[in-house]
Amino acid sequence: MRRPSLRAAAATAAVSAMALTLAGCASGQAQVASGSPTDPGTIGLALPTTESARWISDGQNMVKQFQVLGYKTDLEYAQNDVQKQVGQVGAMIQHHVRALVIGSIDGTALKADLAQAKAAGIPVIAYDRLIRGSGDVDYYATFDNFKVGVLQGTALADAIGLKSATKAAPKRIELFAGSADDNNATFFFNGAMSVLKPYLDSGALVVPSGQMEFLPVTTKAWDGKVAGARMETLLAGPDAAVTLDGVLSPYDGISRAILTSLQAHGYGKGGKALPAVTGQDAELDSVKLVNTGGQSSTIYKDTRELAKVAVEMTDKLLNGEKPDINDTKTYDNGVKVVPTFLLQPVLVTKANLQTVLIGGGYYKASDLG
Ligand code: GAL
Repeated sequence: MRRPSLRAAAATAAVSAMALTLAGCASGQAQVASGSPTDPGTIGLALPTTESARWISDGQNMVKQFQVLGYKTDLEYAQNDVQKQVGQVGAMIQHHVRALVIGSIDGTALKADLAQAKAAGIPVIAYDRLIRGSGDVDYYATFDNFKVGVLQGTALADAIGLKSATKAAPKRIELFAGSADDNNATFFFNGAMSVLKPYLDSGALVVPSGQMEFLPVTTKAWDGKVAGARMETLLAGPDAAVTLDGVLSPYDGISRAILTSLQAHGYGKGGKALPAVTGQDAELDSVKLVNTGGQSSTIYKDTRELAKVAVEMTDKLLNGEKPDINDTKTYDNGVKVVPTFLLQPVLVTKANLQTVLIGGGYYKASDLG
């Protein structure tokens, strides 16, 4: 039986809810009989970790939205353990999920799993992070990752007044990137460097450590502790004799750890201003810091919208329809160019935080404390 599309099912659910309210005493059974498809099946959702607030929201949003369509879900987190995620996805295939939505940890580790999924006729959607090295990934739902990096680089440049810097009076920053096994990390870094490189080339911008290539500045598993430790090492070494103006940070969890290290080294007090530190994900703890001036910016990626795209893609695929895509060029995973739907990221600073995050309903004013 062909199941309804997302919009149709949502409308049906709204109508049944209204009918129930009007009837006053209608039973749940009546609602099931009138609104839900028979045997909708289970969707396997494999996400990286609950250690970061955003992935918790991603999971909750998808579960809610799949349920509106009548699907069941199996949501698993792997706490950034690559082999654990490989096992979780394998088990989902054994349990005959109807489709897989995967936010991978190591984008290259799922090849064998996906070959099994293909053989079992289970469609696969890469969620936020590209799955690499496999021809068996059907679609990709994400944000414009290069643009995220451009926004981060631009925010940093603006915050430190880079336009007026010169070789004689340069600005000084350190660079941090995400986890090397996550395809997004390269995109973020390259996007940011597309903005910063001309200033590095002219000498108006200096990286005291000299660490400007991607690999030396990456942060295994996006782990704040790893980044905080590297910041400590830099502050005790190449950065000890200089004043830093900024730090390029790819993600809020890393930004907060960097800020803690900077504060431990005397920044943010006694007339020594905190360097401008970028971020990503608009995690509440970082949004609070942006609001009070501790973190200079973050990037807002509405996980409700990303979940909606992934859920619609899955539902369309399972109904024999073609999912909507808007990019067929950018995401070559080494085996194929994966058809993608890209959402737009938004830069958040203190200036637009209220309008974007509170006005947009992502947080409540009271969440800011
Ligand atoms: C990336 C993702 C970012 C951030 C980071 C750490 O893949 O695109 O938004 O969440 O992982 O979790």
